[in-house]
Amino acid sequence: MLTLNRIRLTQYKNYAQREFEFNHNVVAITGLNGKGKTNLLDAIHYCCLAKSYFSPSSQLSTMFGTDGFRIEGYFNKDERALDVVCVTRGNKKELSLNAIPYEKFSQHIGTLPIVMIAPDDIELITGAAEQRRNFVDTLLCQLKPGYIQELIKYNRLLQQRNSQLRLMASDSAVSSEILDILDEQMAPVGLAIYKSRKELLDKLLPLAATFYRRISGTDENVFLVYQSQLENEELLALLVKGREKDLITQRSNWGIHRDDLIFQLESKLFRLVASQGQRKSLLFALKLAEFEIIKERKGFSPMLLMDDVFEKLDGHRMNHLLQWVCTDNEGQVFITDTHRERLEEAFDSVDITYQMIELE
Ligand SMILES: Nc1ncnc2c1ncn2[C@@H]1O[C@H](COP(=O)(O)OP(=O)(O)OP(=O)(O)O)[C@@H](O)[C@H]1O
Ligand SMILES: [Mg+2]
Repeated sequence: MLTLNRIRLTQYKNYAQREFEFNHNVVAITGLNGKGKTNLLDAIHYCCLAKSYFSPSSQLSTMFGTDGFRIEGYFNKDERALDVVCVTRGNKKELSLNAIPYEKFSQHIGTLPIVMIAPDDIELITGAAEQRRNFVDTLLCQLKPGYIQELIKYNRLLQQRNSQLRLMASDSAVSSEILDILDEQMAPVGLAIYKSRKELLDKLLPLAATFYRRISGTDENVFLVYQSQLENEELLALLVKGREKDLITQRSNWGIHRDDLIFQLESKLFRLVASQGQRKSLLFALKLAEFEIIKERKGFSPMLLMDDVFEKLDGHRMNHLLQWVCTDNEGQVFITDTHRERLEEAFDSVDITYQMIELE
């Protein structure tokens, strides 16, 4: 069992100096717009994954006019205290666990597993394929220690390959030797990534479909499919066969960087036909499936952070969701909302005890 008991923030976004104690498994955080609800969740995310969920650089997370921040998170995992300290100064970032600094942050990833659900995550349903690949990759990074290295390697080879294609297009004297080598290096890395994604998605997508039906409380038919060019053919064969086109377009048209997840509702593309509430339900279903898979692999529940999630959900769906999140699940859950009463009513209707933090 993983819980966060206390967090102390210094110069983190809107928090000059602030400490929060958490003494329940269900923590509700309310307050008006701009009071720091999302920032508090983000600080928890920082402790777990060594980065912000929202801000691309640590400087954006540093309180305006200051040079760095400090986050101290006091966790408990199976009766063992895990104290995480993250300190930044300018571009420098340090992370330590029980006062021992990490050499590589990637060593920390997976120690304190977490699932965040935020309003902009709806892009996972409506946005470009890249968003869906990111979702899958971020999860695999939490689950598989070597995955991030494979991804970095693949992306580096992909960049090299693309510049080689451009070079060959601009100068016909350039031989194809380097491209041959890059193809051979890329193929096994691409295949390994494909296998990892496939293995994960073979479990995750059916689970998400089940969650979708549970949240919606209907038998709406959703089809969730992993789509990859590597499904029927080895990457090396694709690269060889597709080289002519690659040379014309001057970029790599084949590989796992073209993977996508296809979501359908009653055999139509989900993002084109689904209502806002249905989209949101699918988002939750995917995230809860992520949650379940992490739980199964790790043997304990990850922490669940839900930012402003109730907008656009009808009462039934909200209750189904809360029922699962707060009652059927024994992990710790943080939920934010601008409407205190709405949260209180929802919790009361499913009979949950919780801690309420109101940000002023
Ligand atoms: N680097 C920073 N330094 C200081 N303040 C910041 C920084 N980044 C964000 N803020 C401030 O934090 C506040 C936003 O906090 P946050 O997003 O957590 O609000 P919220 O309670 O989630 O609001 P909402 O209900 O609108 O989602 C804003 O007032 C913003 O100006
Ligand atoms: Mg917010």
